[in-house]
Amino acid sequence: MCGIVGYTGADTAKRILIEGLKRLEYRGYDSAGVALERTSAAGSCELDIVRRTGKVAGLESELAHMDPDSTCGIGHTRWATHGRPSQANAHPHVSCDGRIAVVHNGIIENFAELRTELEGRGHRFASETDTEVLAHLIEEAYAEAGDLMAAVRVACTQVVGAYGIAAVCADEPGVIAVARKDSPIVVGTGASGSYVASDVIALIDATRDVVVLEDGQFARLAPEGITYTDADGAPIEPAITHIDWDIDTAEKGGYPDFMLKEICEQPRVVRDTLVGRLGPNGELDIDELGLTFEELNLIDRVYVIACGTSYHAGLIAKNLIEAWARIPCEVEAASEFRYRNPIITPSTLVVAVSQSGETADTLAAIRDARIKGAKVFGITNVVGSPVARESDGVIYTKANKEIAVASTKSFIGQIVSLTLLAMLLGQAKGKLTTGQIRMLFHELGDTAAQIQWILDTQREAVHRAALACKDAQSALFVGRGMGAAISYEGALKLKEVSYLHAEAYAAGEMKHGPIALIDPGFPVIAVTTKSPTYDKVVSNLKECEARGAMIVAIATEGDEDIKQIADHVVYIPPVRDAFSAITASVPLQLLAREVAVMRGCDVDQPRNLAKSVTVE
Ligand code: AGP
Repeated sequence: MCGIVGYTGADTAKRILIEGLKRLEYRGYDSAGVALERTSAAGSCELDIVRRTGKVAGLESELAHMDPDSTCGIGHTRWATHGRPSQANAHPHVSCDGRIAVVHNGIIENFAELRTELEGRGHRFASETDTEVLAHLIEEAYAEAGDLMAAVRVACTQVVGAYGIAAVCADEPGVIAVARKDSPIVVGTGASGSYVASDVIALIDATRDVVVLEDGQFARLAPEGITYTDADGAPIEPAITHIDWDIDTAEKGGYPDFMLKEICEQPRVVRDTLVGRLGPNGELDIDELGLTFEELNLIDRVYVIACGTSYHAGLIAKNLIEAWARIPCEVEAASEFRYRNPIITPSTLVVAVSQSGETADTLAAIRDARIKGAKVFGITNVVGSPVARESDGVIYTKANKEIAVASTKSFIGQIVSLTLLAMLLGQAKGKLTTGQIRMLFHELGDTAAQIQWILDTQREAVHRAALACKDAQSALFVGRGMGAAISYEGALKLKEVSYLHAEAYAAGEMKHGPIALIDPGFPVIAVTTKSPTYDKVVSNLKECEARGAMIVAIATEGDEDIKQIADHVVYIPPVRDAFSAITASVPLQLLAREVAVMRGCDVDQPRNLAKSVTVE
């Protein structure tokens, strides 16, 4: 949450910061600001601080009249944690003398004590934020050290919490001091200068070779390059990561919004996630897990830990792991798992699923599980992310950068990756033969074309269903088995982007309470694909129909009978029940987006949300 960016070099800092902030806006968008260095008439360097509430576009308009000559600055787009969204609380925050400015992503847990101490020493605070203590701590340390990088290092010894920091000082023009602990920071040098950002997407136009800073590492950016130090100030040589995904990912490419673009990318995500995964003898190749078949065979319990949409991918995985490997699999919200005392032994496998790879609760759960002796696999979309680094093995989903806050293509990448893991466990446990693996693998690959068919043929049906839902106050999503797991994600997607209240229930649970909600016209969105429980779901829907519900069915192509009870039908191609989550999720994603667009919502940046949830 929160995005930071910085640039120093020969180019126009204002333009680079605004472009970077726009790309980082998925991380938070309640306010934004920049600090730009300016040479005064007297020849001294001064800092211009511009902050405002709302999105980066508003900040951009405000900056339009400013001097374009600045070649060094830092910027921030905020998701409020401490202090409401306001101009005063927007970053950058400055020292008392206005000569040091700081942008920060993370949380300073001991800010209240530090603030009291700093106020006692005469510092004046202008905001309610935790971040502002950093500006004053750096100011004090700078008075001693006379060196910005050293001052930032000293300040970092005083704070407890998580931070990605970029700081500038008017007395050291052209220098940006950067620090990192538990919040992502990437830096890189391009043809015209040096860059820092919370995410590589903000600097990929300038360079594809970046350094993903590790906790406790510091970087000093100057126009001519970057130097790296550890917490003691000793020089270090961090590893370079080459970014190979395409910059097109960061553009809408003719689509009206990123959410639709990313939904439409899903056939590619399926194909890319499967590339190179099946060996010539029918064995699955997931070497990066780092476990032999013998070691996998010893696993006797799996926990999937995740949040939000990633948690729903876990619900789907549970069905597959238990069916194919015949070992118990529990799915837990990471925020619950970390505060329980789950039963973990050396033969427990914990699978942490996180698109961003930086969700605070998931990371804390990983650390806890490892301390308790579990083997931890990460499934993430972000190379070098904390989840990747802190897991024993990692599978990267091949979704490429996902910009819309609502996860769509990364969800499909997660399901495909978890499906491979379930197959691998089934093979290692001797429950699936290589012949079965080969057959499942090819059917899994077929879902790419099936998704394409849905995208090509069902948009009009989804549109009609969305028109029928858009004015509702509330909606219910129902299904059984895989259908129930998908329903949870369908409901989350709808409420997240359209602000329409939605809940999901296992269809068989309806009669135990939720059916009381149904009155004439109440939308019930049902996953009624052909499955072993198809008839049961249809019976549950008849009970809803009898009470006047407006039913939208996600059904299997060729199922004409469903039209007798459903007001609207969106079809998916016939597919093995195990893979129905991959295809049936697509109409639900499209439905949520259509409803949101009809209700005038910003589908890419829904209110109150941020894509990376780095706070508890
Ligand atoms: C997805 O649409 C949501 N925005 C949200 O639930 C998300 O899945 C959750 O915050 C977990 O994020 P992660 O996968 O990056 O850990």
